[in-house]
Amino acid sequence: MRTIEWQDGLVVTIDQTKLPSELVYLKMKKCHEVASAINDMKLRGAPLIGVAAAYGLALTAYYSKAERKEDLINEIEQSAEILRRTRPTAMNPFWAINRIARKAREASGDAKDVAKVIVDEAQRMADEDVETNRKIGEHGSKLIDDGDTVLTHCNTGSLATVDYGTALGVIRAAWEQGKTVSVIATETRPKLQGARLTAYELKRDGIPVTLITDSMVGSVMSRQMVDKVFVGADRIVRDAVINKIGTYTIAVLAHEHGIPFYVAAPTSTMDLSHTSNEAVIEERNPEEVTHFFSRRIAPEGVKAMNPAFDVTPMKYVSAIVTEKGVLSPEDLKQLHEV
Ligand code: MRU
Repeated sequence: MRTIEWQDGLVVTIDQTKLPSELVYLKMKKCHEVASAINDMKLRGAPLIGVAAAYGLALTAYYSKAERKEDLINEIEQSAEILRRTRPTAMNPFWAINRIARKAREASGDAKDVAKVIVDEAQRMADEDVETNRKIGEHGSKLIDDGDTVLTHCNTGSLATVDYGTALGVIRAAWEQGKTVSVIATETRPKLQGARLTAYELKRDGIPVTLITDSMVGSVMSRQMVDKVFVGADRIVRDAVINKIGTYTIAVLAHEHGIPFYVAAPTSTMDLSHTSNEAVIEERNPEEVTHFFSRRIAPEGVKAMNPAFDVTPMKYVSAIVTEKGVLSPEDLKQLHEV
């Protein structure tokens, strides 16, 4: 099964908070259930929450009792507002909502016709995500040499997308081409996407993986154990890549050790009309830091910070792998100016 699917008026996905110990499927019938699942990180990863937002709007359209197009569009706008208030940093949900809303406005006919257009468009976006990731894999795998050890952060695999993955898709593509690749995966505090999800996916595929804590990155780099870094992105702005907290530290360390630092992301993650100081970095509940699987680990009353993402300036980025090819930060600037 894909990580998210539309099954006759139900959105079905894997509850990622339960992995790797249990494989539990979530079935959602209402847009607000999709929004809650995004908030609670039952599904996560920028491309996946983008498609989930599109499917959330598809649920609103599918169950709507509106007869006139204008009434359906109003309901879609209300659902879109709920989705926009979930996680502010990843670009993909905003991109997906805009695309569905535009398609709905342009559609002709009554509410039923428009609802069908919305459901079809959400399905198309899910299919496109898989094709896009395959292309990212194809382009990015050219940057991986036989025998490379690649360090990755967070989870950018099938579980962060509809299928295949972005940065993990690149590693997967190189592996499928018969290259010998091994992976060093950071555990990714505080939500442990690396330990729980990346290690799970790579192990399932038989790709050699070694798990490290986030604080071991400098050590493995200084011991020449890393050939390349591949990470994903939640939002790519003109001057920086915004990704899971800890990415910036990894990029600076890679720079210090002369290790190429690559970002793999679809163009739907790009927000080139903005710069990093305009981006909103999601602050999550400090309890994710003071507690470990609901068990308190810090003293009662201690203050904790919990920014979910950080900002890596373009000067640390060797290249960005997209479905359109491998772009340098310089190419990005030109893409924006065109
Ligand atoms: O908080 P998360 O787990 O949603 O964060 C995910 C990441 O930071 C990923 O690197 C990014 O979304 C790209 S996933 C292909």
